Amino acid sequence: MILTRDIEKCFNDSKQTCSTFINDTNRVEYYYYTVPFIRQGQVKGAIVYHGTYQGYAPAANMIIVLIWATAFLFCGALSLLYIVLSKKIVNPLLDMNKTTRQIAAGDFSVRVPANSTDELKELSDSINYMASQLEDTEDARRRFLENVSHELRSPITVIRSMLQVIIEKKVSSDKQVYYTEMILNEVLRMSQLINDLMDLTHIQSSDFKLEYERVDIAELLRRSIAKFESIFTEKKIVMRITFDEYFAAYIRGDELRLVQIFDNLIKNAASYTPETGDILVESSEDGKWVSVTISNSGEGISPEDLPYIFERFYKANKARNSEGVGLGLAITKQLIILHGGTIEVESTNGVSCFKVAFPAEI
Ligand SMILES: Nc1ncnc2c1ncn2[C@@H]1O[C@H](COP(=O)(O)OP(=O)(O)OP(=O)(O)O)[C@@H](O)[C@H]1O
Ligand SMILES: [Mg+2]
Repeated sequence: MILTRDIEKCFNDSKQTCSTFINDTNRVEYYYYTVPFIRQGQVKGAIVYHGTYQGYAPAANMIIVLIWATAFLFCGALSLLYIVLSKKIVNPLLDMNKTTRQIAAGDFSVRVPANSTDELKELSDSINYMASQLEDTEDARRRFLENVSHELRSPITVIRSMLQVIIEKKVSSDKQVYYTEMILNEVLRMSQLINDLMDLTHIQSSDFKLEYERVDIAELLRRSIAKFESIFTEKKIVMRITFDEYFAAYIRGDELRLVQIFDNLIKNAASYTPETGDILVESSEDGKWVSVTISNSGEGISPEDLPYIFERFYKANKARNSEGVGLGLAITKQLIILHGGTIEVESTNGVSCFKVAFPAEI
């Protein structure tokens, strides 16, 4: 009998035994399992277990089913996770990657589609903001080049045709002098444009520095007004100043640049005031700010033009103003800002009014 043999073996060898036996009658396979119980090196007894595998078959099958079900569920969960991650993270990231590549290639009109999740929304908003800023810069650059080309093309066309006439001797010597003067005017206009452009670029650069000193704004205004006296007389413009010769209003600023600011504003007033019109120059000081207001009569500036009046090359009522190039106010505003000041414009009932303020120096 196997059981007896196994127990003997277990006692003799002090080792576990395991054996199987198939019953001829019922064809069931039995197993025997003996474990020695050893104390002080001697086998004192043995634990014997015997049974059939049959009871375990369903359990084994169950375990296999469970393993497959778990594997299946795991794969399902993994696929679900992949789908969710793709939808929430991977796809938006791919969109962003595609958009940034298009932006890098120069197409600033593209935007990241609005399908990002909360986590990625901030990033996609930043990319879209960057694209819109680049688009604005590109538009400004294109407009700037168009304006420069336009402002240079017209004088060059005039100069070319005048020179042609002079060279072909088609006009009397009197007219030749007249044409030569016109050519000189156009050349001066072009050089003024180039100087203004270079000046604007210079004052907008990061290394531009103002030479600060204590400056009397009232005195600068008096000097600027005096410079354009001949135009006021010629156009019979009535010029009124609200402060007397003893008034002084001090700020800390760059005198040469402050002269440039007031020359531009007074020159504009002189240019855009019609004959027999009037100009009013006011100045005051309240301990904190020095204010200057220059108002002039005329056609005024339309509400559509007002928001753009300080932009480069912007000319209100374009058809009538062919003289200037539209850089004066852009330079003026930039210089005022660099001095820590402000400039505002109003236009009502044909009166244009430029209000400037600088921090006062006591
Ligand atoms: N005092 C003013 N009264 C009415 N319109 C004005 C006045 N100042 C400026 N403008 C309008 O604003 C526009 C822009 O002025 P800005 O001084 O920048 O350029 P500009 O005078 O045309 O040329 P420039 O570069 O030679 O000064 C002018 O073309 C004019 O239409
Ligand atoms: Mg001007």
